[in-house]
Amino acid sequence: MSSRIKSPQQLLAESGADLEGHGLRRTMGLFQLVCFGVGAIVGTGIFVGLSGSVAEAGPAVVLSFVLAAITCVFTAFSFAELGGAIPVSGSSYSFAYASLGERAAFLVGWCLLLEYGVSVSAVAVGWSQYVDELLESLTGLRLPAALTAGPAEGGVVNLPAVIVIALAAGLLVRGVRESARATAAMALLKIGILLVFCAVGFSAFRAGHLSPFAGHGVAGITAGASVAFFSYIGFDAITTAGEEVRNPRRNVPLAILICIGIVTLLYGAVALSAIGALGVDAVAGQPAALSLVVDRVTGSSTGGGIIAFGAVVAIASVVLAVMYGQTRILLSMSRDGLVPRVFERVSPRSATPVANTWIVAAVFAVPAAFAPLDVVVDLTTIGTLAVMAVVNLAVIVLRRRHPGLKRSFRVPLFPLSPLLGIGFCLYLMAGTGWTTWVQFAVFLAVGALLYAVYGRRHSRLAVTAPGDGAARAPRGA
Ligand code: ALA
Repeated sequence: MSSRIKSPQQLLAESGADLEGHGLRRTMGLFQLVCFGVGAIVGTGIFVGLSGSVAEAGPAVVLSFVLAAITCVFTAFSFAELGGAIPVSGSSYSFAYASLGERAAFLVGWCLLLEYGVSVSAVAVGWSQYVDELLESLTGLRLPAALTAGPAEGGVVNLPAVIVIALAAGLLVRGVRESARATAAMALLKIGILLVFCAVGFSAFRAGHLSPFAGHGVAGITAGASVAFFSYIGFDAITTAGEEVRNPRRNVPLAILICIGIVTLLYGAVALSAIGALGVDAVAGQPAALSLVVDRVTGSSTGGGIIAFGAVVAIASVVLAVMYGQTRILLSMSRDGLVPRVFERVSPRSATPVANTWIVAAVFAVPAAFAPLDVVVDLTTIGTLAVMAVVNLAVIVLRRRHPGLKRSFRVPLFPLSPLLGIGFCLYLMAGTGWTTWVQFAVFLAVGALLYAVYGRRHSRLAVTAPGDGAARAPRGA
């Protein structure tokens, strides 16, 4: 069986871009770019996911963060090279279309439903924890347990998670979305809150709480890294801003490295201060753990309330950004004919994909309402890591197929860097555990089936080829 491949030139032509870029003004400097990156990265992962990674790794969670960061650095180089060679929206999905063919692109798009869609569910569930915490600190009352968790966690439905998804969808269909400037401002808010948290935590620091340092050994650190990885998702957003950046060749890779460095230091400091203040058990598996730690250290609910307020604002912005990403990926796939056309319908009144947005909201409100947080986080993680492994592979394939393509950035030490990227992605995927693998395998099988019965037949590349400029290369099935 052959797989259809889009040439980089075709992708660029479709997007209306030329190799020099979209003609956008290059206004972002290194500082703004770093803020933009931090704004896209920091969210539920540290505010909520920390309690999960600490449960796996104990104080050695700082090493888990370093492992997750290394995985991101290699993959970030690959994103930077591909972003510079094929500057079109759709990112990993388009990169796969140009390098590995349509079937792989469909499966990447399918996995992006985990990276973005299920991630919306996960982030919304995290938001719900801090809303409950904020309400308690403001009114002294908590929401009924039945309305703050799904059946697997002793509740009935996670209502706040559904509400934040509905609110985000309502804003997106009206055309409201976070600008790069707002994301950057949000970054300063998030860094500020986390620094305040560190100051409180370190004020009660006791070195004895850090021992034993790695109670669950290397396996614990690896499993912790797989959970911690969630808190790094979003760094690839920096490569999407490439055309608005002054001197992107230097600034994009540098900004990614600085961002990953900053958040790793920040996450490590947050973890050490939380554990150092109260010990592993006070953090591991606790909902809204950061507020809880501050409440206990300060002996009042005011400090925790302030942290909860910051988390509610910061995490809501992540729901908005990630849901926006999901709708645009489905729009790209729909334009290629790989998913039904309802996803590309844009309302003439609001100029937004209204039906697409509400379908996304309705579908991903279901796991938000009923699934436990660790399940949705693990699925997001394994799906994102699979996509990133493909992005690393795409660099290698594209260098072979299109050696002459103009690249504004080249990964260092080719092919070692993308190969290490693939290796680390697989390593962290292994750390998610076999239940997640089984769920992922079923998910991929459903995706492959859908491509066979729908995507392949409706693909516009099939309709327009041959002679449309699309390269069709024979490949093994
Ligand atoms: N990195 C993002 C977060 O932690 C997905 O919320």
